[in-house]
Amino acid sequence: MDVDEGKFEEIAALLQDIYMRTGADYRDYSPTFLCRRFAAFLRKNRLSSLAELHQIILESEESLHEMLDALSLPTTRMFRDGAVFRQIRQSVIPDLAATRLEKIWSAGCSTGEEAYSLSILFKEEMPGKKLVTFATDHNEKSLRIARKGIYSLRRMRAYTQAYLESGGTGDFSSYYFADQENAIMDESVKRDLVFALHNLVTDSSFNEFDLILCRNVLIYFNKKLQQQVMQLLFRSLRPGGILVLGDKESLRSMISESSFEEVDRYSRIFRKR
Ligand SMILES: C[S@@+](CC[C@H](N)C(=O)[O-])C[C@H]1O[C@@H](n2cnc3c(N)ncnc32)[C@H](O)[C@@H]1O
Repeated sequence: MDVDEGKFEEIAALLQDIYMRTGADYRDYSPTFLCRRFAAFLRKNRLSSLAELHQIILESEESLHEMLDALSLPTTRMFRDGAVFRQIRQSVIPDLAATRLEKIWSAGCSTGEEAYSLSILFKEEMPGKKLVTFATDHNEKSLRIARKGIYSLRRMRAYTQAYLESGGTGDFSSYYFADQENAIMDESVKRDLVFALHNLVTDSSFNEFDLILCRNVLIYFNKKLQQQVMQLLFRSLRPGGILVLGDKESLRSMISESSFEEVDRYSRIFRKR
């Protein structure tokens, strides 16, 4: 069944119920995103209407949690957009290292590939430097995968090209151990990563970071929520700190232009004034 924005009142009622029961707050996610996710969930579970779905999640905790999982889109990959990571490697790291580069935040880290990519960059560009990358998500299931750092070997091999595009000159396979099916991330790229539960909508700022990546997350929020979360990211950065967004995300309409200067338009890299 199709779920279009004409059905948004029904979706809003459902989201309000979910919020009251669980505290999970999807009320200000983008209508387009929500309609697509609900339609996919109805199809997958062979449900004929939102009303049927509403009834089912009222009756079953298990269905409710399946529904919540379906609202968290974990799509990610290592060195996603290799050119962005090249920019981080070649310009952001040397620039920040000249002042301070110790605390990094990967916000909305999904299953951890972004955080491991950063860890590899830091190991190559700042060997021996003491730093910590907090990698957070609101989805505990994704975080469990991230903490394990075990990925399919087939996918890891496919990431080699993106690693090279990021300017990597080492041997990408030296960062993991391979068994027949899996790649297990090496302790040397794991030890500076702290994976933790954090909800960008309901939790507050928890540190003053030098570098924040929040990529391909804001795109799922409506304008009001984008502005709210951008304030959180702004407060969480030190002056001169760097923010990196996803390729379809821009600061325009989220925060006053005087708050950030553009470092690289193509790579969506901004410096807090
Ligand atoms: C498409 S993935 C992006 C992953 C990674 N940043 C990247 O660019 O490859 C979006 C992630 O944002 C997370 N997310 C969505 N809403 C969130 C929220 N309110 N708080 C924290 N994470 C959230 C989802 O769980 C998902 O893991």
